[in-house]
Amino acid sequence: MNVFINKDIPEAGIKLLQEKGINLTINPTENVLSREEFIKICQKNDALLNVGTNNLDEDFFEQCPNLKGIALFSVGFDAVDMTSANNRKIPVGNTPDVLSRATSDIAFLLMQSVARKSFFNHKRILNDDWRSFDPLANLGQELYGKTLGIFGLGRIGFEMAKKCKAAFGMNIIYNNRSHNEEAEKELDAKYVDFETLLSESDVLSIHSNYSAENNELFNKNTFAKMKSNAIFINTARGKFQNENDLFNALTNNIIWGAGLDVTNPEPMKSDNPLLLLPNCCVLPHIGSATYEARNGMAVCAAQNIIALFENKKMPFCVNE
Ligand code: DGY
Repeated sequence: MNVFINKDIPEAGIKLLQEKGINLTINPTENVLSREEFIKICQKNDALLNVGTNNLDEDFFEQCPNLKGIALFSVGFDAVDMTSANNRKIPVGNTPDVLSRATSDIAFLLMQSVARKSFFNHKRILNDDWRSFDPLANLGQELYGKTLGIFGLGRIGFEMAKKCKAAFGMNIIYNNRSHNEEAEKELDAKYVDFETLLSESDVLSIHSNYSAENNELFNKNTFAKMKSNAIFINTARGKFQNENDLFNALTNNIIWGAGLDVTNPEPMKSDNPLLLLPNCCVLPHIGSATYEARNGMAVCAAQNIIALFENKKMPFCVNE
């Protein structure tokens, strides 16, 4: 079996694949391949181990009729048109669990960074603007006993909720497609409708899978329903937010602050006005960027490919 890996991944995954005698073509360049080049190489392979946000849409599947399976190097599978994959019975695998801690760490870090204006104050020092101690300046919020609202309480949301409960005794409310009984039992999390999530959260953190029906769900209408002290955190997908509306909400005191590890679009340009706001912290999509998580992702992705090679069901298959 011939497998194309479109960007190098940690050795732990490569080793597993090589031990099975699987033939690997690894994109040798640092650069993202053009769509044309990417499709050309996929056409010559039986499976794709996909790193990044290539749009694996109907056109892609049409052009690569020999592909037998796709292992994503991500937990999110929004890059794949699942209807096209399902119609062709092409299994698609992802990398769940192994990055839940790392990604929720970044959500927690952003929450704290926004609450205490840390990025903005770091920039001030760089600009030689360290002002003398002022009892009325740089005031942030404490999060003790406040309400964390989770949109999408799966594995990552659960890790975020655990941290917030342990560190600040936060009350947890959540909105999800279904009840999360474990979180209700362990963390006393309360299921609420979306409107209540908006109106009662002091911190609202997105941990849901993205799909087109949720495109820019967080926009001027939804920000207007949030508390004026609310902190908006997104470590899931940038397309959940309308960034013009977010900018207006942040500059007109509609909400208090925002922490983003994902932007709409990515990458964010350096002249984006959100980067200059004192109440906005932005990171370049590094949620899963730890040695531990990335090794785990490499192993999951390799296990998915190996299962395909052995005519077994992928252990982390996302097809219905
Ligand atoms: C994921 O695993 O979905 C991360 O966001 C990387 O794309």
